[in-house]
Amino acid sequence: METNNQKQTANIDRRSFLLNATAVGAGAVLAPLVASAEAKAAEGAAGGDTHSVPAAAGSVLTMAEVLRVAREKLYPRCRVCPECNGVACAGEVPGFGGIGSGASFKNNYESLAKVHLQMRTFHEIKKPDTAISIFGETVSFPVLSAATGGVTYNMGGKMSEEDYVDAIIGGCRAAGTLPLIADGIGDPMEVFQRRMNVVKQYGGKVVVLIKPKTQDEIIKRIHMVEEVGGVAFGIDIDSAGRAARAVPGQTVEPKTPKQLAELAKATKLPFFIKGVMTADEAQMAVDAGAKAIGVSNHGGRVLDHTPGVAQILPAIAKKVKGKITIIADGAVRHGADVLKLLALGADATLVGRPLVRGAHGAGKDGVALILNGIRTELVDSMVLTGTARARDVSARIIAEV
Ligand SMILES: Cc1cc2nc3c(=O)[nH]c(=O)nc-3n(C[C@H](O)[C@H](O)[C@H](O)COP(=O)(O)O)c2cc1C
Repeated sequence: METNNQKQTANIDRRSFLLNATAVGAGAVLAPLVASAEAKAAEGAAGGDTHSVPAAAGSVLTMAEVLRVAREKLYPRCRVCPECNGVACAGEVPGFGGIGSGASFKNNYESLAKVHLQMRTFHEIKKPDTAISIFGETVSFPVLSAATGGVTYNMGGKMSEEDYVDAIIGGCRAAGTLPLIADGIGDPMEVFQRRMNVVKQYGGKVVVLIKPKTQDEIIKRIHMVEEVGGVAFGIDIDSAGRAARAVPGQTVEPKTPKQLAELAKATKLPFFIKGVMTADEAQMAVDAGAKAIGVSNHGGRVLDHTPGVAQILPAIAKKVKGKITIIADGAVRHGADVLKLLALGADATLVGRPLVRGAHGAGKDGVALILNGIRTELVDSMVLTGTARARDVSARIIAEV
C-alpha cells in the first residue's frame, strides 16, 4: 500500500515529469501527440483534412509546429500537456490552471470524459450539416472562441494585446465562426478601446465580454461595442468573486435580477450572461431578457469544487432549452466533446485554452488550425453517431453504460 509520503512523491514526480518534458522541448511525453498530429497533417495533404494549413509559400503549418512554438512562448504558464486536463497547472491562477485544488477544471474534463457516445452507422448521413445560427449570424460549426484575457499576467507577455486579439478574431473568421473578446478586471478604458480598435478593423462581428463592473461602466462599454459593430455583448458574471476585494476603479460585483434586466434593456444587442451553473439562475436569465447563457465555471478558475459543466448541463437544458441560447464551455478539446455537450442540451460550445496555444503558436493561422481540426473531428463524430444536423442533436446518441 502507498503511504502518504510515497503518494506525494509520486505526484511530485508526475508533475516534474511534465515540467521537464516541456522544458526540453518536444520531449518523449509529447511524442504521441506530435506524431498523431503529423500523421493527420500528412493525411490532410491527401484528403483535405484540416490539421495543417498552407503557411507561407511552399511551407505547411502543422499542429506539431504550432504546439512547439506555443510551448516555447507560454512555458511555464502553460506546459502544453498532451492532455489539457488541469492536473499539471492545478492552482495556477493567474496562469492557465484551475483555482485552488484545481478540482473545478478537472471536473470539467472528467465529467465530459465520462459521457459516452452511441455509435450508429446504419443510415445515409455522409455529409452532416455543422452550421448553426447564433447571435443573428450563421457560423460554420457550433464552436466559438471563449473569451481569454490577461496577455501579461496569465500568458506571460509574449504577445501584445492587439496581436492577441487579432489572432483570435482572424483565426475565428478564417474558420467561419465568431470570436468572444475578453475584458480584464483591472483594465482601464484605454485598454478596452485598444481591443475595440482591432474589432473595428475586422468590421465588427464579434461578441464582447465585459467584466461585471458597475452598471455605468458596463453601459459605457456596451455603447463602444455597438459603435464597432459587435453582434452581442456579455458579462462574465462569474468574475464577481473579487467583489469583496475590489479597489477603486476596479469594482466587480454580483448583479441582482433587476440590474441584469437593466443591462438587457440598455441596448438592442443580444445580452449573453456567462457563468450560469444552476437551473434557477438560468430561468432568471431568461426572465431578465438575456438572449444567451454561458453554462460555465470560467474554466474552473473562480470557485474551487464546482461540478463539471457536463454534470449540470442537462438540468439547465431541461429548464430553459428553447427559451434562451445555451452555450456550454469547459475542457472542450475535440469534436466529440462538442457533440457530447450538444447532446446534453447545449446549442453551442466555447473553446478556451487550446486557442490561447494556437494564437501563441502561429497567430491567426494557429487558431484556425485548431478550430478546423475540431470541426473535422465533429463531422466524423456526427457521421458515426448518425447525426445529420448540429442544430438538432439528439440525446439518443449518449450511451447509457
Ligand atoms: C488564460 C485564461 C484567461 C481567461 N480570461 C477570461 C476572461 O477574461 N473573461 C472570461 O469570461 N473568461 C476568461 N477565461 C475563461 C474562458 O472564457 C473559458 O470559460 C474557459 O477557458 C473554458 O475552459 P477551457 O479553457 O477548458 O476550454 C479565461 C481562461 C483562461 C485559461
